[in-house]
Amino acid sequence: MTKNGKLNIDALTDFRTGRQHRSIYTDAEIYEIEQERIFGRCWLFLAHERQIQNPGDFMRTFMGEDEVLVVRQKNGSVKAFLNTCTHRGNRLCKADTGNKKSFVCNYHGWGFDTSGALTGVPLEKEAYYGELDKDAFKLIEVAQVSSYNGLIFGNFDPEAPSLEAYLGEMRWYLDIWLDAMPNGTALLGETMKVELPVNWKFPVENVSGDGYHLGWAHAGAMTVSSSMSLSGMTVSNSSVDNSAAVSVAGLNGHCVLSSLDGVSGYAFYPQPKIAVDYLEQNRANVAERLGKVRAEKFWGSQINLTVFPSLQLLPGLNWFRVYHPKGVDRIEMWTWAMVDVDMPNELKEMILANVARTFGPAGIFDNDDGDNLQACSELSNGRQTRKMNLYTNMALGREHSRDEMPGVVSDGLICEQNQRYYYRRWSELMRAENWSDVPVYNNLEEANKTLWV
Ligand code: FES
Ligand SMILES: [Fe+2]
Repeated sequence: MTKNGKLNIDALTDFRTGRQHRSIYTDAEIYEIEQERIFGRCWLFLAHERQIQNPGDFMRTFMGEDEVLVVRQKNGSVKAFLNTCTHRGNRLCKADTGNKKSFVCNYHGWGFDTSGALTGVPLEKEAYYGELDKDAFKLIEVAQVSSYNGLIFGNFDPEAPSLEAYLGEMRWYLDIWLDAMPNGTALLGETMKVELPVNWKFPVENVSGDGYHLGWAHAGAMTVSSSMSLSGMTVSNSSVDNSAAVSVAGLNGHCVLSSLDGVSGYAFYPQPKIAVDYLEQNRANVAERLGKVRAEKFWGSQINLTVFPSLQLLPGLNWFRVYHPKGVDRIEMWTWAMVDVDMPNELKEMILANVARTFGPAGIFDNDDGDNLQACSELSNGRQTRKMNLYTNMALGREHSRDEMPGVVSDGLICEQNQRYYYRRWSELMRAENWSDVPVYNNLEEANKTLWV
């Protein structure tokens, strides 16, 4: 995949045939460009507003491979800083979360307040003769921090579009969870961290659009955990009901996979009645907030929401996950249970237990996926396989628009449209010198207009 000895990004993927060259999962040079052009300029999830509610509350997390501290300020706003001391580069804060008035470095004792200012330098007068310009040694701030309905995101690129513009029409789908109930959402429990020897794109693409594997890879897990009749989740290996679900993409890289029955999100719970009662008690109120289509077809359905490049929310199964790349062949997946604040405690407890049972470190679904995805990644690294292509060409050409929902739509969960649009966005960003080169589209017509040749 080189042209005149240089990496040819244009040739790595082909949207029109659904082709991906396997080197995108293994090549160190491509991974380096991803860190700059994707993780260096996309909006990345930092924390839920409720995780850092009080001044001084902080979370330690990652943006790409860079470690950051996300800190609630005295005035209620949020800042994020690289978690590195500006003296000799030590890790400034080792705790994952907590509350601080200041961050003091373990190496020589420099202290920074929660706004990032350098406020304490041991022996400042004697060692620096009182001449240290402390302003020049502030913590390095993430260029943009912004929130959308409870979720805080950061962006290293000062030129990036606003978070609202970046999410675009995807907000219509995100609100099905984030804005359905008056008091919004919260993440429950500790962060569940799992390390996997896999290229970061394989697990994201899997959840973004791969309904095909459900009835096969998860056949066992679905049999033991499904407790409802699944009109919207007809995904056995022998039959497909394409009328009961949709794949939606063309949303600037963001994707949605959803059943349309309003209950099947809770099909994989031992006692779904508690959840179904909650849904029916609140559905009319949700319709007032979000309108009939979202309240009746989507709210309560199993929905996979992917915010490009590495955040996934699954209302119904109620897990929330961010993927942190750790090299070309390694990731850390951070997972939480996510609930509506207005849910009864009994339901919240059931959701937390069910996320651990299905998609936690020992989760029955996650272990099916981990094994397959690890192999897809490892097997891309052979001398011959690294020269090959892989394809996501299922239901190619079946994309259409629907008046009642934004985005490019294909029928059913078993379809690879979303992966094609996901990789299209990947390619658009990888080839763009800056944001003004990145096309914007939110429906089929716009997507077709911006299609390169
Ligand atoms: S490295 Fe932090 S004070 Fe020296
Ligand atoms: Fe899966």
